[in-house]
Amino acid sequence: MTPHAADLDAWLDETREERLADYLEFLCIPSISALPSHADECRRAAEFLADRMRAAGLEHVEVAETEGNPVVYGDWLHAHDAPTILVYGHYDVQPVDPLDLWVKAPFDPRVEDGRVYARGAADDKSNVHAQVQAARAWLANDGRLPVNLKFVFEGEEESGSEHLDRWLADNRRRLAADLAVVSDTGFFEGNVPAITVGLRGIMYAQVDVSGPAIDLHSGGYGGTVRNPATVLCEIVAGLHDADGRVDVPGFYDDVRPLSERDRAEFARLPFDERAYRESLGVDTLWGEAGYTTLERRGGRPTLEVNGIWGGFQGEGAKTIIPAHAHAKISCRLVRDQDPERIFGLVRDRILALAPAGVRVDVTYIHGGSPSLTPVDHPATKAAARSIREVFGVDPVYIREGGSVPVTASFESILGLPVVLLGFTPPDDHAHAPNESMRLDNLELGTRTMTRYWEALAETLLR
Ligand code: BES
Ligand code: ZN
Repeated sequence: MTPHAADLDAWLDETREERLADYLEFLCIPSISALPSHADECRRAAEFLADRMRAAGLEHVEVAETEGNPVVYGDWLHAHDAPTILVYGHYDVQPVDPLDLWVKAPFDPRVEDGRVYARGAADDKSNVHAQVQAARAWLANDGRLPVNLKFVFEGEEESGSEHLDRWLADNRRRLAADLAVVSDTGFFEGNVPAITVGLRGIMYAQVDVSGPAIDLHSGGYGGTVRNPATVLCEIVAGLHDADGRVDVPGFYDDVRPLSERDRAEFARLPFDERAYRESLGVDTLWGEAGYTTLERRGGRPTLEVNGIWGGFQGEGAKTIIPAHAHAKISCRLVRDQDPERIFGLVRDRILALAPAGVRVDVTYIHGGSPSLTPVDHPATKAAARSIREVFGVDPVYIREGGSVPVTASFESILGLPVVLLGFTPPDDHAHAPNESMRLDNLELGTRTMTRYWEALAETLLR
């Protein structure tokens, strides 16, 4: 351990309570980006973050406008002859419904058994907080950082990062760097320290089926018209075949098959399938035939229904043929699938499944590209060394099923190599009721970041 590391650790120990209180305050802000009604709260989270970045000693801190929620930018650029790292995270969170399943309100954080429960506790306010506090630790102790840092925290990741590419392109000069560190991932099953090296892309759409002009008495009209809810079920059922493959012509055309090496990497991971299944509360796992669970999650494309509604939802009975029915669906994509092309294929398939007697509309909501990051890049290796120093074990390398749309943009728009480095536990219940973060992951993650900046200062990136 370098002398710095000991000093930084001591400082982190001393400030632990204060940093925890600050993180909890961050979690009280309901920055739900999917809901236009919460735009002010998103801005409040951005201001909060900007304030903490200034307090940490970062410079040029700015709540920068976009067409949507603001980006928070800040930097520290005085490490001469050292690499420049662009650090990314997001301060927005997912919606909280169903509210009644939360033990305590989602924006009233609860600390229990070494965890913090709140919406955003893990995804992604934990990693964002760790990043700012790691920089603060360096500046408070040493008055400097070993590398140049440029922070970009966005407020629309959970709703598709729709305005970020534009902002990146407009700020290309200011964002020049040697590497992007995307801090929006976590550890492997069993809380095994991990570096993510693959993320899936996404295509999100809505299906609206409309039939009669108004709801109809299901006795008076049953047997005379198509029922939109029934049609929607038939459409949804028509999107998979019996082998669990997505039944959309052309869907797999651009998919790069998994190589023997890819499959060996998945097979090597310490995965306890039974524990996984039990933790999910299901008696059987399911997915595309011919692939393992980890392959299906990290290496194969899928189609899921995210929500479906229509007709009577209240207590008791009401006899109607609903005038309309709806579904939110999304596909997870792998290399080299393109979200817009996939949307066209899925839309065509849905329209082909639609019978006469109803109208079906399919609307694109958002999309993001898949990404694979280099396992053998010196910056990835330096991250592995930092994890080993702090957690005492070598990380595993994982391909994850989730999406962080900007990852591909850092590569394509800014031309940067990307390291995905975050510390959330695998059982964080992200996007679900009672989301939580393990406090030891948060503390050790913060420590890992202080080490990583030092490790990168000694790494040749250019
Ligand atoms: N942190 C997640 C991405 C993630 C999930 C990485 C699981 C690794 C494992 C991120 O905040 C997220 O949830 N992204 C959304 C993006 C979408 C709304 C465009 C997702 O994947 O659903
Ligand atoms: Zn998320």
